[in-house]
Amino acid sequence: MGLLNDYTDRHRFIFDVIAPVYSALDKYVKKGHSKPFENVINVIDVRGKTVLDIGTGAAAWAALFMENGAKVHGVDFSKRMVKHAQKRYGDKIKFSVGNAMDLKDFEDESFDIVTASYVLHGFVFEKRNLILKEMHRITKNIVIVNDYYGHTHPVGQFLEFLEGSDYKNFKKNFINELKDLFPEIMVCDGANGQAIYFAAKKKGTFKSKSCIKKRII
Ligand SMILES: C[S@@+](CC[C@H](N)C(=O)[O-])C[C@H]1O[C@@H](n2cnc3c(N)ncnc32)[C@H](O)[C@@H]1O
Repeated sequence: MGLLNDYTDRHRFIFDVIAPVYSALDKYVKKGHSKPFENVINVIDVRGKTVLDIGTGAAAWAALFMENGAKVHGVDFSKRMVKHAQKRYGDKIKFSVGNAMDLKDFEDESFDIVTASYVLHGFVFEKRNLILKEMHRITKNIVIVNDYYGHTHPVGQFLEFLEGSDYKNFKKNFINELKDLFPEIMVCDGANGQAIYFAAKKKGTFKSKSCIKKRII
């Protein structure tokens, strides 16, 4: 298949191209992530936990876990993204290059938390489900997804159109996709058209936990 016809290669190409811009904007991306991240620290004590961040990009999301005391490994299929992330956080976060749909380098139940921020909405259901199954396999218990929910800002709509992402179906179906794989889920409204989706293999994990803004489910 030619470069632009192959789904993975085309996406990798796009992210390789935008890696320098994404990295330059890291401070702002991280600031945008930090408010919804308050839900994470409200629900889970991440100190000392091992965290695998899938589609880590320039590591803005991974850095929030690291700064709150977690031991973080970021993986991304774009070598250029990984290079930029390493430059900024290489002494504190471990990074590797890998495809989210095939993470065989990581053993079953080898991380306390497996997370992905603004990655899963990019894939059609079949591919998204493969990634979610990998996340389920690798986590000891908890999966955390930071991604679209509710109304998407027109700028976001335009960028998703350019990327050819599946964000509309993601918003419609993702909660049910999580429910099909995990016995327990909790979703916190992260404001500004995003949510933190928590999922656990063990029932009772989110018992008596609350969201900062609004609990969706
Ligand atoms: C929108 S960026 C989000 C970056 C970061 N998680 C954040 O929230 O700041 C999406 C990232 O997912 C990565 N990605 C997309 N598809 C991937 C795949 N199949 N395997 C690994 N990484 C992937 C891209 O290279 C990009 O760095």
